[in-house]
Amino acid sequence: MCGIIGYLGYREAYHILINGLKKLEYRGYDSSGISIINKNGYSLFKTKGKVNELEKKIYSFKNKLTGTVGIGHTRWATHGEPNDINAHPHVSNSNNLVMIHNGIIENYHAIKIILLKNGYTFNSKTDTEVLVNLIEYIKYENNLSLEEAVRVSLNEIIGAYSIAILEKSNPETIIIAKLGSPLIIGIGKKEFFIASDPIPFINYTKNVIYMKDGEMAILKKNKELDLRKIINNHKLNPIIKRLKINLKEIEKGEYKYFMLKEICEQPKTILDTLRGRLLISKKIICINGIESNKEKFINANSIIIVACGTSWHAGLIGEYLLEKYTRIPVEVEYSSEFRYRNPIIGKKDIVIVISQSGETADTLSALKLAKKKGAFVFGICNVVGSSIARNVNAGVYIHAGPEIGVASTKAFTSQITILTLIALKIGKYKSIISDLSYKEICKELSLIPEKINYVIKYNSSIKKISNLLYYTNNFIYLGRGINFPVALEGALKLKEISYIHAEGFPAAEMKHGPMALIDKNIPVIVISPLKGSYKKMLSNIQEIKARRGKIIALINKDDVQVRMLADHVINIPDTIEELSPLITVIPLQLLAYQIAFLRGKNIDQPRNLAKSVTVE
Ligand code: F6R
Repeated sequence: MCGIIGYLGYREAYHILINGLKKLEYRGYDSSGISIINKNGYSLFKTKGKVNELEKKIYSFKNKLTGTVGIGHTRWATHGEPNDINAHPHVSNSNNLVMIHNGIIENYHAIKIILLKNGYTFNSKTDTEVLVNLIEYIKYENNLSLEEAVRVSLNEIIGAYSIAILEKSNPETIIIAKLGSPLIIGIGKKEFFIASDPIPFINYTKNVIYMKDGEMAILKKNKELDLRKIINNHKLNPIIKRLKINLKEIEKGEYKYFMLKEICEQPKTILDTLRGRLLISKKIICINGIESNKEKFINANSIIIVACGTSWHAGLIGEYLLEKYTRIPVEVEYSSEFRYRNPIIGKKDIVIVISQSGETADTLSALKLAKKKGAFVFGICNVVGSSIARNVNAGVYIHAGPEIGVASTKAFTSQITILTLIALKIGKYKSIISDLSYKEICKELSLIPEKINYVIKYNSSIKKISNLLYYTNNFIYLGRGINFPVALEGALKLKEISYIHAEGFPAAEMKHGPMALIDKNIPVIVISPLKGSYKKMLSNIQEIKARRGKIIALINKDDVQVRMLADHVINIPDTIEELSPLITVIPLQLLAYQIAFLRGKNIDQPRNLAKSVTVE
């Protein structure tokens, strides 16, 4: 995790760095720092807390922070607790080198011992301070330029990094390198930007280079970019891409939090996901990545979906859809488990990796393992050009637009939308789904955005329920069939932004243990649309009611029976069972948001979390 930023050009660096760090806070926000360099040396400020704490600290010194070259960092602690000393940038023992780092140096301990033996001392507990001193040690021992020392040092380390280094005696240069953690270069006119994602510099330039693993670059004032391979110093031709991001997408506008904005955007983001893919008048689904690999999908022995967190929940919904419409056996795995258990997969298996950010370290490693074992790897990502998107054999973007709130919302519904299209497409190829059902589902899918709009507009019962329950410390979420993963997702949303303990269960599992938790104080959120296992759900609700549990039910307008049993109801529009998660999840996102809001939490930046989990 951690966000890094840098600037080298003709503008004052301070505002670019500070404003950029604010946009990178989704990657970590327990401490931050910046360093700006000019011919008189560098200034460096860092502090525990968010970027506005850093701004306050710098405020009285602002005049000293002049210069057109600088780097900045916002941290999500891995090595060493969040405090001023462990915050980045870190400085080498001679004070000549200043470095920021996103990633983990796994062999830092062994390197530290060698450096200690050679007289080096350390202030912080970080692996980054070890790396910057290794670079310095190698530089002076071997009389190398900084560029050479960086290359030699990086060939010695094990781990993941994106780094940027300044040298006091060389104030018009920044050296950067990448392995495993993202790093993007923005190319302006006589200026370079660097960042963990392009959003911090998007209003200066949309021309970017996505650095690849094992690359380093030397950025110098008034010089062309010098891109090299770390392993052998071979010069590389930079490939410049033009970004298509609309600035409005990364602003909160009228909303207090990005999360609420992103929940409310879902009617539009689902349309964006469907655009060009669901051609409703022709009743055709077009997904290039599937079409160009048609035989692979038709003949697949199995599909393994690999993801983390909310994307994993989308994968569970994908399992229902794919098995139903394609009759290919599907397994859904946590990336972190899959990658360490020597899975049995081969050429005839398809691994689908799902990731909003496209940077989740465990998912990226799972992808690489699947490829190594010969499986065909298909990606479902949101962030264009992300590491996962670049490493898969084929894939599809969900086009949900930038998701900035740490709690994932619109990416989830777009992931489910894409999984539905994929399942229908393969089902049609295999003639498993009838023409009638295919047409019916396609038609209904096109109506989903309007139905979500209805839930977002008419949600007064959610506000009322939140007002009654926001002080409660435990919640249970129940669903069955395709809505069981929605129960998991609802519970995750509540936990992560309101810090309330919540658990999701398949409703029938309650009597195998969790029922012991039920008493009059525990709210039980039941997802109970009239379709699917409604009758079974009704029995499960009665069992809870008999134990005085407090029922909050998501129901359709025509439902009389659950309405009578429930303490509170949230009305949801009717749809076909397979598409119901797209609707049922919306009130749960809103409920989590309202409760967190009433508890006064920082909804977009929940404690201990970061948007993009680039450490294992
Ligand atoms: C929860 C949430 C996380 C992510 C998970 C995977 O709201 O956002 O659980 O879903 O960290 O992230 P991606 O999808 O970027 O791989």
